[in-house]
Amino acid sequence: MTRVYDEDLSVGFGTRAIHAGQRPDPLSGAIMTPIYTTSTYVQDALGENKGYEYARGKNPTREALERNVAALEGGTHGFAFSSGMGCLDSIMKLFKSGDHIVCGENVYGGTFRLFDRILQHFGLTFTYVDARDPNRIADAITNRTVALLVETPTNPLMRITDLAAVGEIAAHAGARLIVDNTFATPFFQRPFEFGADIVYHSTTKYLNGHSDMIGGICVVRDDDLATKIQFIANAAGAVPGPFDSWLALRGTKTLHLRMPAHDANGRRIAAWLADRLGEERVIYPGLPSHPQHELACRQMRGFGGMISVEMGTKEKANAVLRRARVFSLAESLGGVESLISHPASMTHASVPPERRAQLGITEGLVRLSCGVEDVNDLLGDLEQMFDGA
Ligand SMILES: Cc1ncc(COP(=O)(O)O)c(C=O)c1O
Repeated sequence: MTRVYDEDLSVGFGTRAIHAGQRPDPLSGAIMTPIYTTSTYVQDALGENKGYEYARGKNPTREALERNVAALEGGTHGFAFSSGMGCLDSIMKLFKSGDHIVCGENVYGGTFRLFDRILQHFGLTFTYVDARDPNRIADAITNRTVALLVETPTNPLMRITDLAAVGEIAAHAGARLIVDNTFATPFFQRPFEFGADIVYHSTTKYLNGHSDMIGGICVVRDDDLATKIQFIANAAGAVPGPFDSWLALRGTKTLHLRMPAHDANGRRIAAWLADRLGEERVIYPGLPSHPQHELACRQMRGFGGMISVEMGTKEKANAVLRRARVFSLAESLGGVESLISHPASMTHASVPPERRAQLGITEGLVRLSCGVEDVNDLLGDLEQMFDGA
């Protein structure tokens, strides 16, 4: 099982980003972790091997990524998966039929789809609550509750969960607190500091940062939990290949450089949009007008590049989206390039329309993932996209 190198935890975030989990290759001294493209490992004799037997269980490139992200989150064990959803599905295999999970109501559409269309048929039960109010989470707990799952900030409504309050509720209830930290990344938010038990990511997004792979990762701090997840990862096998692991690992080397740039562009663009359209139409936790701005400042070190904007109708949203030139109309987020999307028909299409409406994921909502291009070019693009809006 992959465990962080203890010495990696005594250095700063940027040093961890570049070095944690990686040591010069013992064979050649190569400074970059090789991409170990192998399915199996030759053994010296029965029961005698170099710690590697079969690559579903362990791969050195994957292990470097797992140690790296575990160190960035301040955890002890990391487990990489073939996608964010594969990661979450494997986490949920910790639980059994009859177990109950309290889940934030505004989560990535695919998270809701996995729970609602698949896992509940295996006997897991879910209650969805407005996770902005910790009391709603506490009130939903039953004697069968085994976990609380929150995403903060949420996709796409940028709602914030008070992690310290929910951490206490989880500890009191004896439930695991699972946090999707994809939007904030460990650069801006470290849920373990607030009592999380499992922190997970779609590495497809900011951790990779270059939109060139799909992956997921979860990090824990508890040895017993780590042993269980290692067993699931090997038994269920939703593990990533070595090249995707390597791409994610190359991405994390610049996380501490990219996130401040996403954040700077996000702040400038959110302020520009608020000025242009009215602050009530722009949802960004870094804006003082965001109803949870104070909480965001308390638990996050920055806000990143995700912004949602209410255009009123699908037609008006489409008029903006179709004019994108520097921004690209596409699903996903967190890459160096700027993207714009329509959650109702793209990332959250799997959420039933009445549920979307109840949550506030309207037909007029557009979501921006601000990349790290020159901000004046992004503002110039937005100027012509929002002309007349
Ligand atoms: C917040 C969040 N969590 C999880 C996922 C799922 O990750 P993946 O697409 O890598 O399976 C996504 C994907 O958009 C996401 O936005």
